[in-house]
Amino acid sequence: MLDLVESKFGQHEAFRADVLGGLAQRQKTIPARWLYDQRGSELFEEITGLDEYYLTRTETAILRRNSGEMAGLLGEDAVLLEYGAGAGIKSEILIDALKAPRMYVPIDIAADFLAQTAARIRDRFPELPTRPIITDFTADFDMPADIPAQRRAAFFPGSTIGNLGQSEAAALLRRMRQHVGERGKAMIGVDLRKDVEILIAAYDDKRGVTAEFNLNLLRRINRELNGSFPLEAFAHEARWNEHESAIEMHLVSRKPQVVSVAGRGFAFAQGETIHTETCRKFDVAGFAYAAQQSSWRVDRVWSDPAELFAVFGLHAHAFFPSQLAPEVGLPAAIGY
Ligand code: AVJ
Repeated sequence: MLDLVESKFGQHEAFRADVLGGLAQRQKTIPARWLYDQRGSELFEEITGLDEYYLTRTETAILRRNSGEMAGLLGEDAVLLEYGAGAGIKSEILIDALKAPRMYVPIDIAADFLAQTAARIRDRFPELPTRPIITDFTADFDMPADIPAQRRAAFFPGSTIGNLGQSEAAALLRRMRQHVGERGKAMIGVDLRKDVEILIAAYDDKRGVTAEFNLNLLRRINRELNGSFPLEAFAHEARWNEHESAIEMHLVSRKPQVVSVAGRGFAFAQGETIHTETCRKFDVAGFAYAAQQSSWRVDRVWSDPAELFAVFGLHAHAFFPSQLAPEVGLPAAIGY
C-alpha cells in the first residue's frame, strides 16, 4: 500500500513537471501518457468501439484468425510479458491459444488498471500464475528474479509503440530483447500507413469522442494542477505529419488568452497549439528494419485483407555492439 501511495505521489510530481515544462516550450507539448486518467482510459475504451477507429477491431480479428499460428511460434511453456496492461480482449485471445503457458506478466504504471487486468485474467485462467509489475515500461527496469527466464515472449499490441519517439521506441525494443533473453520471442502490433483521410477520421470521429478524450487532458490539469483552462476556448485537431509518418493530436487555442497552471501563467496566441499525442504509422519493411536494428528478426507478419494493421512475430537475434548505442533511432517507414 505504501508503494501505491508513493507511486501516486511520484506520479503527481511527474505530471506537474511534464505540464509546466511542456507548456514553457516553443511548441507546447504534453506527453501522451497523461491522457489516461480514469476518465481518459474510459474514453479510450469508447474510442476502440467507434466505426472510424479501425485499429482495435482489426488487430483483434488478426489475433483471432491467427492465434494458433502465433501460439506455435511462441511455443510451449511460454512466459508472456505484456507491456502495458490491456483492458481489452487481446491478451485473452493469445493466452487462450497458448499451449501450457507458464506465467502471465502484465506490466503497467497505472496500478488500479493493472489490478483490474490481473483480476480478469486470473478469473478467466485460474491455473495460470499472473504476476503484475507496476512500473513505467518506457524507462529501464529489470525483470524480477521470480519470473522464469526460459521461453519468455514480449507482447505489445495496440500500436502503442507508435506513441513513442524513434529513439524511445528503439530503446524499448532493445529492452524487450534484453528481458526475453537470447531465445526469446515477441509479438508486436503496429498500425500501417494508409490514406490520410482514413487516418484523420480515426482520430477525429464524427461523434466527437476523440475530441472529448483530448480535451479531458485540460480537465485533468484544471483538477490536479489547479489549472484555469476554459475547455470551450480550445479545439481538438488531428493532423498528419508526413515527415514523422504520424498522426498528431493537438489542442488549438481558439483565441489569444492567458491560462494559469499551478500559479504560473502561460500565453496562447490564437491558433497556437498544445501537441498532446503522436501516433506513428509504419510500413512493413520499415518496421522490420527497425526491429532488426534492435536485435530482432521477423518470423512472420500477419495482416488483415485491407492491410490496415499488422502483427509482427519476432525472435531474438544476437546483439551487436553498434545496436547497443543509444542514438540508434527507429524509422517508421523506409522507401517513400
Ligand atoms: C492507445 C496509443 C494505440 O494511438 O491509436 C486513440 C491512442 N489516441 N485515439 C492510438 C489514441 C487517439 C491509441 N493508442
